[in-house]
Amino acid sequence: MPETVKIFDTTLRDGEQSPGASLDRNQKVEIARALETLGVDIIEAGFPVSSPGDFEAVRAVTKAVTEPVVAGLARCQKADIKTAWQALQSARRPRIHIFLSTSPLHMKYKLKKRPEEVMRIAENMTRYACSLCQDVQFSPEDATRSELPFLAQIVETVIQAGASTINIPDTVGYTTPGEFEVLIRELYARVPSLRQIMVSVHCHNDLGMATANSLAAIRAGVRQVEGTINGLGERAGNAALEEIVMALKTRAKFYRVRTNIQTRQIVRISRLVSSATGIVVQPNKAIVGGNAFAHEAGIHQDGIIKQRLTYEIMNARDIGLKENRLVLGKHSGRHALAKRLRELGYQLEEKELQGFFERFKELADKKKEVFDEDLFALMEERTGAPKKVYSLEHVQASSGSGLVPTAAVRLLKEGQILQGSGTGDGPVDAVYKTIDALLGRQHKLTGYAIQAITGGTDAQGEVTVQLDSHGRVITGRGAHTDIIVASAKAYINALNRLAAMENVVRKIPNRRSKAVAR
Ligand code: KIV
Ligand code: ZN
Repeated sequence: MPETVKIFDTTLRDGEQSPGASLDRNQKVEIARALETLGVDIIEAGFPVSSPGDFEAVRAVTKAVTEPVVAGLARCQKADIKTAWQALQSARRPRIHIFLSTSPLHMKYKLKKRPEEVMRIAENMTRYACSLCQDVQFSPEDATRSELPFLAQIVETVIQAGASTINIPDTVGYTTPGEFEVLIRELYARVPSLRQIMVSVHCHNDLGMATANSLAAIRAGVRQVEGTINGLGERAGNAALEEIVMALKTRAKFYRVRTNIQTRQIVRISRLVSSATGIVVQPNKAIVGGNAFAHEAGIHQDGIIKQRLTYEIMNARDIGLKENRLVLGKHSGRHALAKRLRELGYQLEEKELQGFFERFKELADKKKEVFDEDLFALMEERTGAPKKVYSLEHVQASSGSGLVPTAAVRLLKEGQILQGSGTGDGPVDAVYKTIDALLGRQHKLTGYAIQAITGGTDAQGEVTVQLDSHGRVITGRGAHTDIIVASAKAYINALNRLAAMENVVRKIPNRRSKAVAR
């Protein structure tokens, strides 16, 4: 039996650090449940000290899942570690994950501490974390730019202090596969006690090598890898777990390891994470991109028809595409809808199902066939806007050559009707300007994109918008067969996210900035 590589998912922590990707407690719980179904071994649920909202979300995740270890991040500071433990202690299998920078650059400029001090803090804080929790993971931040003798020494020290997992992060995505493999082998050679504990890696994608670096580390012997769904994360993101898992599966003879992942859940969780965060997966993204299994060239299509393996190294079914592809339509009943939703991983309460069924019927009246992608988009309105301050009642726009683009909008703001009309540079601009005028507040639109969810002229258009609020990116998404309605829905979705964020900040005046904390 091949050895198992444990999958540590940090979508809810590092992934949430993606610009525009904030998740609330309910969304985190929904994703955590889906991660459990996917079969991940460890879920990093958040950074409890960073905000009361994150603390509560971590606590909620500990209660929502039973199988995976639930980890919470903490700096090497007593208050962080204590708070992490308070958030984690009701987990069936809690883990405190502490980190401290070890590169000369970080120690000098970020920590402003000498290496001896860093060593002492790492040792003391590991002991402290171990006094609270049996399972402690230590990460020497910026390990790949650290000096090897110092890195080895600190790793040895925290193992002696009780750490049971050592995670080697490539914090700034600087290393290369060959170099990283050598680094891991060197560490094993210099610190023999590493063989007695779990060694992990955590790679960022700044040079596009996060997956390759993670796989190189597996070749060197590590048996835990960290990453996120869809490769979300700070800057260029983290290693995409679906890529690592599918590489290990597809090239099993080469890597000779296995994972506990139910790969047929991959597409579903990718869509769920994309809809909850509002971050669209690029079409040519490996494994989960819309084009990952599409064949355009005639020669390729011909080859595929003759023998699939000519141009496909993976089976789309293995990641959950094309499975039980049941197309729903306006004659489909509630049972068929509920069954399909269950197959896609959504468990709706009776009342919620009724509301969802009505929205499904409205869509089915406009579209002949309702595909899984349409259901995901409808679901998104549920996961993407958990608490609605604003809802769209009506929108209409007229435009054309020689006409001044004009829009009429009716909104509900916490039950109060707001309606009016306005003009703009185009119909979408007219709608957005009218909404801003109704709310008495201007918003800075920094991104707008539209794509068809499925094929055909009756396909739903899915609009993604990005707003800038004091340097923070707020994402919104909306789908509809009418692209003006989709545009308005996306804008309202972003405004609801903004309102939720401002509400949290209002309630928690002393909230620490995550950017500073990390
Ligand atoms: O990138 C990094 O170094 C991290 C650590 C906290 C593990 O995210
Ligand atoms: Zn990271």
